Amino acid sequence: MHINRHFSRAARSYDANAELQLAVGRSLVQRLPVELVMPTALDLGCATAPFARAQQQALPDVLWQGVDLSSAMLNEAAERGRLNDAYQPLCADAEALPLENGSQGLVFSCFALQWCDPGRVMAEVHRVLAPGGRLLLAVPLCGSLQELHQSWQAVNQRPHVNRLPSLNEWQDAALRAGFADAELQQQVMVEYYDTVKHIARRLKATGADHVNGASGLTGKQAWQAMVKEYETRRTEQGLPLTWKVLFLEAEKQ
Ligand SMILES: C[S@@+](CC[C@H](N)C(=O)[O-])C[C@H]1O[C@@H](n2cnc3c(N)ncnc32)[C@H](O)[C@@H]1O
Repeated sequence: MHINRHFSRAARSYDANAELQLAVGRSLVQRLPVELVMPTALDLGCATAPFARAQQQALPDVLWQGVDLSSAMLNEAAERGRLNDAYQPLCADAEALPLENGSQGLVFSCFALQWCDPGRVMAEVHRVLAPGGRLLLAVPLCGSLQELHQSWQAVNQRPHVNRLPSLNEWQDAALRAGFADAELQQQVMVEYYDTVKHIARRLKATGADHVNGASGLTGKQAWQAMVKEYETRRTEQGLPLTWKVLFLEAEKQ
């Protein structure tokens, strides 16, 4: 699978380059409930499991499973000493979890489900949650990386930035899956960079540069034209890169 290969390449460099993702994850950890209906929890798309320690501190008597498509990410989590008897790795697809119906008290997921089909993944999360089980989700939304998208648009029409699902698509998917009272909030976050190269390097190191349908090769001329276009957006703080992040909280009735 493309996404798997992509993230496996990013496993080593992920933590050092994922400032924004890690900040969002930390704020998601702050929202963890103090008690679960069942002492089992998943971190879907956990990558190197950067939140494992904080998650275990917040919910010490819970058996966690860090789920990721990429075994390289899970190996990196193990090498960093983040896995233990109460925090186990599970190499699996969030859209098809090898888990029993109603087996989980909590599903946590940060910056990982944006490449999934919202309908399929929400149905799967709802299936594995026990009644009263909680979902805590953060994903970048459509409109993220807009400066990069627009700068490429000015050069050619090839896909260079993935179209991510919108807030409405996530809301519909949550409702259809059975999360009647899902709460959704959108937060806009802007990072600033010195150069476009720096932006591209950062996206590559976190695996966030995966684009469906892209050939992977970009001509030098096209790249230079895109950089020139991006430079017109420079501010005093540097080159902006905007993220629109959805925070979704829900409970299975
Ligand atoms: C950007 S990293 C996020 C890691 C971590 N949750 C964080 O917030 O720092 C995204 C991770 O999601 C994983 N991933 C993407 N699609 C997935 C899927 N369908 N099922 C399981 N993992 C997936 C990738 O392999 C990658 O490790």
